Order: sequence, then C-alpha cells, then structure tokens
Amino acid sequence: MASQREAAIQYVRKNREKFLTSLKEFLQIPSVSNDPLHSSDIRQAANWMAAQLHSLRMQRVQIYPTMRHPIVYGEYLGVPGAPTVLLYGHYDVQPAEPLDQWKTSPFDPTIRGENLYARGVSDMKGQILALLKAVEALSKNGGIPVNLKWLIEGEEEIGSMNLGAFIANHKDLLACDFAFNPDAGMLGEDKPTITYALRGLAYLELRVYGPPTELHSGVFGGVVHNPAIVLAELIAGMHDSQGRVTLPGFYDKVRELTPEERAELARIPSDEKYYLEKTGVPALYGEQGFTPNELTGARPTLDVNGMISGFTGSGTKTIIPAWAMAKISCRLVPDQRPHDVYEQMKRYLEEKAPKTVRWELVEMHGGNPSISERNHPAVQAFAQALETVWGVRPYFKREGGSIPVVSLVQDLLGVESVIGGFGLPDDNFHGPNEKLHLPTWYKGIEALVHFFLNLTELR
Ligand code: BES
Ligand code: ZN
Repeated sequence: MASQREAAIQYVRKNREKFLTSLKEFLQIPSVSNDPLHSSDIRQAANWMAAQLHSLRMQRVQIYPTMRHPIVYGEYLGVPGAPTVLLYGHYDVQPAEPLDQWKTSPFDPTIRGENLYARGVSDMKGQILALLKAVEALSKNGGIPVNLKWLIEGEEEIGSMNLGAFIANHKDLLACDFAFNPDAGMLGEDKPTITYALRGLAYLELRVYGPPTELHSGVFGGVVHNPAIVLAELIAGMHDSQGRVTLPGFYDKVRELTPEERAELARIPSDEKYYLEKTGVPALYGEQGFTPNELTGARPTLDVNGMISGFTGSGTKTIIPAWAMAKISCRLVPDQRPHDVYEQMKRYLEEKAPKTVRWELVEMHGGNPSISERNHPAVQAFAQALETVWGVRPYFKREGGSIPVVSLVQDLLGVESVIGGFGLPDDNFHGPNEKLHLPTWYKGIEALVHFFLNLTELR
C-alpha cells in the first residue's frame, strides 16, 4: 500500500500540466444553468463529463435527462468489500455577468500569478477535476482502491430542483456508504477545512399590487396607498431592533449551538476584523449575542436580494406605481424547513399587510439545511488526508452557503456526507474574476489520493 501511495502522488506531481489542460477544456464550456440560451452548453458539459468517466473506465456511464438539466452518472464497483463512495459534483456554473468587470474573458481560462481565472473554476469545475485526477492517479498506479459512484448534476446553482426526485427514483443505483462532496472550500491556503453543516435556503418572491395601472401622483397622491411604500414597510418589519427575524415561528425549530461546538468554532481565526475587511462595509450587522462565524454558519437570516417598483429611469416621472416586487431569501439552519418559512411569511403578511393593497407570495426554490456527523470514520479519513498534505489539523466549519444535495442524500439514501473542497475565501465564486489557487488545487488532488487510500483502512 505504501508504494501505491507513493506512486500515485508522484503521478499527480508529474502530470500537473496535463491536469491543468483538461481543466481549461472543461472551463471553456459556458454551462450557465439559469439561462435557456445556454442549454446546448449545458448538454456539452454533461457530455464532456460523461466522456471523462468513460476514459476513467467507469461502468454504466449514463446521462439521465431531468425536467431541466441532465444528471451524469458512472460507477466503479471493482472492489467488493471496500466502501462505496458517492462522489457529488455540479457541472453548472453561475452567469458571468457583468462581463465588463472581468479582466479576461470568463470562459477563456487564463493564468495570472498562481491563479487560474474563469467562471466556475473554483465553484466547482476545479473540484470535479481534482476528483477525476485523483482517481486517475490511483487507477494508473495499482488500481482504484474503493467503489465509486459519480453523481454530477447541472442544476445546483439554480436550486437542484430535480435532484431530489432523481435520487428518490434511483435509490438502488445510488446506494452507498457515504457521500463525498467537494463543493465547499477552505478557510485559507494554510487552513485545510472540513465543512460539517450547511445552511438551507427558502427563496420567495413578494409582489404588492396597488392600482391596476400607474397613476398621476398629483391627482391621486393622498388617497391611494403607494405599493412601493407598503412593500418597504413590510420588509422593514421583517427584522426587530435586535436583528432577529420577526416572521411568526421563524426560530421555533432552530437548533441551538452547544458549548462544545461554540468552542470548536472559536478556533477559526476569522473574526469581526476579517469580515469588515472582506466586505468593505463600515460596520457589521446581525443578531445580537453571536460571533460572526456563528452568525454565518449557525443562525438563520432573511435578506432582500433585489426589489423593483415604478419609475427607475433617468430624470423624473410623477407617478404612483401599480406594483412593487421584492426577491427575498432566507438562509436556514437545522431543523428549519423552506416550506415552513413560506407559511410563516404568509402569516406575517396576513397580519401586517394593509387592506389598501393586494399581495401575492410566490414560493421559489429551496433546500434543506444539513448537519453531518463529525466523528464519521470517513470524516476521520479525510481529516487525516488533509493533515498528511498540509501538516496541520483541519478546521471544522459550519458553512453559510447551501448545497441542497447534502440533506437529500441524508434523507433519501440515509448517508452522511464528507464535505470539503480546495477553493479559497477570496476565489470570488459567483462574482467577476473567479479564480482557483493552483498550488492549493494540486495539494488538494494529493489529499484526495490519500483520502481514497485511507478509506481502505476503515472497514
Ligand atoms: N458552492 C456553493 C455553496 C458554497 C458557498 C459552499 C460558499 C461553500 C462556501 C454552491 O454552488 C452555491 O452557491 N449554492 C447556492 C445554492 C442555492 C442556489 C440553493 C447558494 O448557496 O446560494
Ligand atoms: Zn458550487
């Protein structure tokens, strides 16, 4: 075994340039999931992924259509008795707009310094490539030591709306001992990290309707309630002066942090100063009584993602708008549920919205929060792998972002996920000039080689 480890690591070191070339090829496909104009690119990315699995000699490689974007599956079950790992990834990316903020074109991967710049390089095509290349290294040097099932979807960035049904309908196909999910990153290049909790998401659209058409604000101002003002007041009432969300019952199912967990989270060096610097805001905001890491990882939030109403062009126009709309999303923590939040918002509006307007609440996509077993043997195997490569014990972190699949595999397949990844906090995923720190990525590939080999020692 020691020699396979050595040989596979040497293979990774010798083939860095080739791995990079392959990553660039994947990045050139603009697989933006939220835009129907990119549906042929989405198909191309799924085909590319399937071809990679074929060339790794995976079996049963198949592209499964869904209501929207296809899911790529492949498996290797050549080691009876060894653990079976479900490897998750998403080949879709966020839109690249606004394009004028990119220094080089988002789908023309470019190296500057130690980083590779492209849309999706960190979130998460680079992470998928790291998995593919770690498996390749093992496959060419003594063989893949565990059983693998690949589940690569194309809808993560738009809420994984068809993934739950797919998993529910393919429980036997996807049966495994645990999942590995590299869609979360590290706290810093010298801080290997394991994510053990993710927030969920409830996405809502609130529409407030006033008069059937815009009205002259001189002729009717004073007797007609302005829907933009009503919307603003409703939104303002969604938090109290302590920064808590006021939707009725919002905190009922929130699991409180234990003292032990608070102590583990307090190891993470990022504090108020870090968040001030990262965000550029003049002062931080938030629910009182919690540290920034607790607030982003373990407390729920309500945010307005955007709002629109009436006249927003240049110059002036004296009207009362006919309607106002806000996109509202809540990040959820165990054991909150997105549909409950929709109901709570409805109740809030029933109580608070004035009779002078009509309103409508639309439930968009959502995802459940998750919390994973920190002492799972596979987590230990990954922690050991990270320590082997970085020489320090990994940090255990609760992530504020969402990855819907984690709770889906927990609920539908009954398995835990080991959650990691080799992106860094300043990778700017979802924003312009997304990048991947290549030295960290190469280390990550080595860590995955160690991880797969460590798994054989579990039993
Ligand atoms: N990779 C991210 C999740 C993430 C963000 C992990 C930050 C670690 C740090 C993922 O691709 C993502 O952005 N998810 C969406 C999910 C949503 C659309 C349901 C998110 O969190 O907004
Ligand atoms: Zn992602």
